[in-house]
Amino acid sequence: MNKKALPILCCLFFTLHTMAQQPFDTSSAISNLISQMTLQEKVNMIHASSSFTSGAVPRLGIPEFTSSDGPHGVRPEHGRGWDLTNNTADSGTYLPTGVCLAATWNPQLGVEYGKVLGSEAKYRHKNVILGPGINIIRTPLNGRNFEYQSEDPFLVSKMAVGYIKGVQSQGVSACVKHFAANNQEINRHTINVLMSERALREIYLPGFKAAVQEAGVNTIMASYNKFRGEWASQNNYLLNQVLKKEWNFKGVVISDWDAVTSTSEALWNGLDIEMGTDLHMLPNPDYSKFYLGDTVISLVKSGKIPEYLINDKVRRILYVMFKTNMINGTTDKGEYNTKEHQLTALKVAEEGIVLLKNQHNILPLNAKKIKSIAVIGLNANRKQSMGGGSSQVRAFYEITPLEGLQSIAGNKVKINYAQGYEIKRNAIANQSLIEEAVKAAKNSDVAIIVGGWTHGYDYNNWKDNAYDAEDVDKPNMDMPFGQNELIKAVVKANPKTIVVLMGGGPIDMTQWIDETASVIQNWYAGMEGGTALAKIIFGEVNPSGKLPMSFPKKLEDNPSYVLGEYPGDGNNVHYYDDIYVGYRYYDTYKVEPQFAFGHGLSYSNFEYSNLQLSSEGNNAKATFTIKNTSKIAGAEIAELYIHQEKSLLPRPLKELKGFEKVNLQPGEQKTISIPLNQNSFQYFNDVKNEWEMEPGVFDILIGSSSRDIKLNGKIKM
Ligand code: BGC
Repeated sequence: MNKKALPILCCLFFTLHTMAQQPFDTSSAISNLISQMTLQEKVNMIHASSSFTSGAVPRLGIPEFTSSDGPHGVRPEHGRGWDLTNNTADSGTYLPTGVCLAATWNPQLGVEYGKVLGSEAKYRHKNVILGPGINIIRTPLNGRNFEYQSEDPFLVSKMAVGYIKGVQSQGVSACVKHFAANNQEINRHTINVLMSERALREIYLPGFKAAVQEAGVNTIMASYNKFRGEWASQNNYLLNQVLKKEWNFKGVVISDWDAVTSTSEALWNGLDIEMGTDLHMLPNPDYSKFYLGDTVISLVKSGKIPEYLINDKVRRILYVMFKTNMINGTTDKGEYNTKEHQLTALKVAEEGIVLLKNQHNILPLNAKKIKSIAVIGLNANRKQSMGGGSSQVRAFYEITPLEGLQSIAGNKVKINYAQGYEIKRNAIANQSLIEEAVKAAKNSDVAIIVGGWTHGYDYNNWKDNAYDAEDVDKPNMDMPFGQNELIKAVVKANPKTIVVLMGGGPIDMTQWIDETASVIQNWYAGMEGGTALAKIIFGEVNPSGKLPMSFPKKLEDNPSYVLGEYPGDGNNVHYYDDIYVGYRYYDTYKVEPQFAFGHGLSYSNFEYSNLQLSSEGNNAKATFTIKNTSKIAGAEIAELYIHQEKSLLPRPLKELKGFEKVNLQPGEQKTISIPLNQNSFQYFNDVKNEWEMEPGVFDILIGSSSRDIKLNGKIKM
C-alpha cells in the first residue's frame, strides 16, 4: 500500500467510526429534507392521498403515511378508495373491544394488546393504528362506549398508556382519539360541547395528557365536534395551547375523517394532516381540492400564510417517520394471526369479562354433574367482529358463546339451543321464540341466556337499527327485541338461569335482576370471547374483571340526564354535570347504582387487612395486605380512592387514584403498596386556573369496588 495513503485511511476510518457512534441527528436530517422540498411536495404531505394515506415525496425517499383503524384489530383493506376489498388475506386477530380491555384493570395486558395490534399493523404495511379510543364514558347511550374505556380518567390513563406503549414498541404509531370532548355520537358533526375548565382538566383531558407525556404517543386524532365554539380539528385552545404548548406534544395531529371545514383555521389552529374530506367527492375524489391542498399553495404564494407554518407540520410528520423507521430505517415484518396473538385475545377476554351477580354460588357449573344446558339468545350464536362501524375487524375466526360452551362442556353435556329473540328493526317479543326457549330451559339442568346489545342487525349498514355503533347513540337503556319478556319467562321456567350480556355498557335490568341468579357482563370479547366465557362458566378460569363504569339502574339516574344535558339541543350540549361523571356522581349524590364502578366478583374470597399510611412531602404510600381465604387461586383488583375532608372547592366523595391487580394462590397473602403523589391529591381550581394542592386531611379508602370499601385511614398532606 502507498505509505502516504495510510494516514488518510486511518483518518477516514476514525471519522466513520466516530460517526457511527454518534446518535443520528434526526433534527438536522429533517431540516435537510425540508430544505430540499418544494412547496407542492410539502403540501402533499399534509392532506390525504387516498382514503387512509397522506402524501409521499418519492424523490426524497419519503413514503406515504398509511393508517388503519383501530382500535381492536387491523381493519379490512379499503384499497385506495372507500369500498372494502374482498381480499380475505386481511382477516386478522380480533381483540376484545376497548371497554373489555379496561375491565381487566391490567395495564400490562394493555401492553400485550398493543403489541398484537402493532405487530399485525406492521405486517399489513400500516404505519399508524387509529387507536386507542379513550373518550370518557359520560352517558350509557353513547354508541361508541364499546370502543372506549371508562368513566374514570385515572383508569383510562393507565390502560391507554399500556396500549400505546405496546403498539409503539413495534415501530408503529398509535393514534389516540378523539381529541376532545367527543362523548356522544348523536350530532357528532355539529354539536358544540361546553363545559367548565375544571371538568375538562379533571375528567376529559387526563387520558390524553398521559398518552402524550407518559406514553409518548406519536399521533392524535382531533374529533368532529366543536369545543367552545371552535371545531376540535381546528381548535386553537385544544391543539395549540394545551396539546402542543402546555404538554409539549411533538407528534402529528390528524383530523378525524372529514372533520376539516376551513383552510386557514386548520393551518393556524394546530392541525397537521387533513383526512377524509374525499368522502364528499366520491366516486372521483380530487385530493388537491382538500382544504389543505392547492388552496394552501396559493395562500403561501400570495404571502397570506407563512411557509414556516407548513414546515412545522411537515417537520412533525418527518419526526414520526424517523421515530418509526419509515425513512432510512430497517424493521422486522411483523406477525399475523399467530397463536400468541390469539392467546392475548383470549387472556384479555378472560380477565375482562365481569361476573356481576352469583347468587348461591350457582357458578361455576360442574361439567361432570351437568347433563344438559339450554343456551338461549341470538347473541350466543352470532359473530360480532364486523359490526360497529370503523372499528370492524374481519376476524381470522370468532368463537361464539355457543361454540365455546359446547367445546368446554364436552360431548357428554347436551346443549339445547333456542334463538329466543330476533334482531330486527322494531322487534318486540316473539312469543313463539319465547315458548321454544322456555321449553329448552325446562328440559335442561341450567339455562344460559346470551343477549344484551348488538352492533346492529346489518353489518353493511351499521347505522340501521344499531346500538353499539359509530354515528348512532342508543335511543334509551331498555333491552331491545323483547328480551325482558324472554328473560322473565326463562327464569320462571328454570331458576338456574345465567344471563350473559353483550354490549358496550349498562342495560336496564330492573325487570328481572332480583329474580335472576347470575349475571355476566361479556362486552364484545373478541375472537376467543366464546372460549373465555365458557371457561369462566365452567370454572376453568376464575373471573377477575371489574366494571370500568357504573351501571345505573335506570337511564334517568345518570348524571348527564339529571344534572347535565344530553344530547343537547342539536347546536350545543352543556356538561352541567361537570366533574360529577359516573361514580363521582352516584356516590356524592347518594344514588344507588345497579352495579357500582369497580364491581366484579370472583370465585375466590379475599380478605383485606393491615392498612398503613405514610407520607413525605407531597408523596404518600398506602400499604395493606390481601389474603385469598378460599380454596381456589384467583386475582383481586384492589382499588384506592381518596376523599378530601374539607376543601375550598367541592370535591367528589371518592376519586380513584391507584389500583393493583394481584394473583393469589389459595391461602396466599401479599402485601400491596400503592404510591401516591401530588397528582393524586390535587384538584383543578378554575378560579385560579391552575392545579391546586390544598393541604388538609384525606381519607384513603381501599376497596374491592367503589362501594365495597374494605379499609380506610386518614392522612394529613
Ligand atoms: C371515526 C374514526 C375513524 C375514522 C377512519 C371516523 O368516522 O370517527 O374513529 O378512525 O373514521 O375510519
